[in-house]
Amino acid sequence: MSGLAGRHLISISDLSNGEIQGIFRLTDRFVPGLQGGPLSIVRRGRRRGAKKGPAAAAIGRVCAGQILATVFFEPSTRTRLSFESAMHRLGGRVISVADPQTSSAAKGERLGDTIRVIASYADAIVLRHPKEGAALLAAESLDEQRVAELGRRVPIVNGGDGAHEHPTQTLCDLYTIKKEQGKIEGLNVALCGDLLHARTVHSLAYGLARFGANLKCISPASLRLPGYVARRLEREYGCVPEEYESFGDLAAPDMGHVPRPRGRGRGRAAKRLVDDEQFLEAVGRSLDAIYVTRIQAERFADAAEAEAVSGSYVIDPGLLRRIGKRTTLLHPLPRVNEVDYAVDLDARAAYFRQASYGVPIRMALLALLLGRRRMRRAKEEAARGAAREREWITSVECCNDTCITNSEPGMHSRMERLGDTGLLRCAYCDREQEDGGASGGDR
Ligand code: NCD
Repeated sequence: MSGLAGRHLISISDLSNGEIQGIFRLTDRFVPGLQGGPLSIVRRGRRRGAKKGPAAAAIGRVCAGQILATVFFEPSTRTRLSFESAMHRLGGRVISVADPQTSSAAKGERLGDTIRVIASYADAIVLRHPKEGAALLAAESLDEQRVAELGRRVPIVNGGDGAHEHPTQTLCDLYTIKKEQGKIEGLNVALCGDLLHARTVHSLAYGLARFGANLKCISPASLRLPGYVARRLEREYGCVPEEYESFGDLAAPDMGHVPRPRGRGRGRAAKRLVDDEQFLEAVGRSLDAIYVTRIQAERFADAAEAEAVSGSYVIDPGLLRRIGKRTTLLHPLPRVNEVDYAVDLDARAAYFRQASYGVPIRMALLALLLGRRRMRRAKEEAARGAAREREWITSVECCNDTCITNSEPGMHSRMERLGDTGLLRCAYCDREQEDGGASGGDR
């Protein structure tokens, strides 16, 4: 097995930086064709004298004979349809579960069983699921015995697992930032909104940190990055994001910040919080990109809590006047009320371009995972996740109620001891909890 062929993509950490760049290089070759321009494959054909169509035809054969299954247990527009569009563009076919009520999950079937079966109907599976760790469980359900029965490896792609990760959205996000700003390294990127529950933010924070961007987190106090994400950013990438509150008040500088309570978020350096006016003076104009997310209302235990923070931050034309002229505005979409529609007219609003890149990015990814295209071997280190030898503890259950290990029948968690921190990390949902303690899991 070489390169990405046959590999699962569960976390953005499953890809090395070189592999991400390789995906971007292949994406670059697909973008022009989708925009009606020439493709590099076409140009070669044209030089040989072909009049029209060889590019489209060549690209339309990349995944000929292959089947992609999109299995979505949560609502989706962009992720599912862009994967399906990508597969169709590559000449492959698609089977789909778009509504869990129409699959045997509604009859109580275990996720692992569902995936084991679908793997015999498809060559790759994109899974979206409300439970954290579901994508890893799906990948593990295709164990060596099942691979031998199937006679091939069926890659599982995480299309979003609960509030955990969404790695293919991160590929779109990083690609867009690179296109808009020319680079990622050294950029000042603000992550704004529901940083606690937004899986796109978690994967993106890791991705940005790895490529050397500086992170500024702006969110209501109750929606900061989860401690386990912040600690991992520091532990694995040496990245300590700056934290600010009341982003929604950026355009209304008379409202002050509420200081962040100390003590929570072990390992996080406490930053001095400034008021909004100072924030804009000090930080606003230096931002190269602002990534906004909606309040993830469906992940709140209490709907009233979501209601209380709804509308607490809004990007509007007033704010646009106070940030840099080249600042890129990003949003994974859907937006609810956090980006004023008037902002769409501004050239800095890149979110619809970002959504469009979903198709070529996923074309590149599918072509590589299905072994239909190869990338030059990355010189740098192998994917981090695969490289590290881990010692697993299987006698402790995960404290996170929404971890897949707590809902899949017959399933047990697997924990890793985090050095001498006294913390255990769940392999499925990444949440941390006290080693041997009765104390609740970290969110
Ligand atoms: C995101 C998701 O599903 O996490 N959407 C997407 O895939 N583009 C963001 C969201 O739902 O807020």
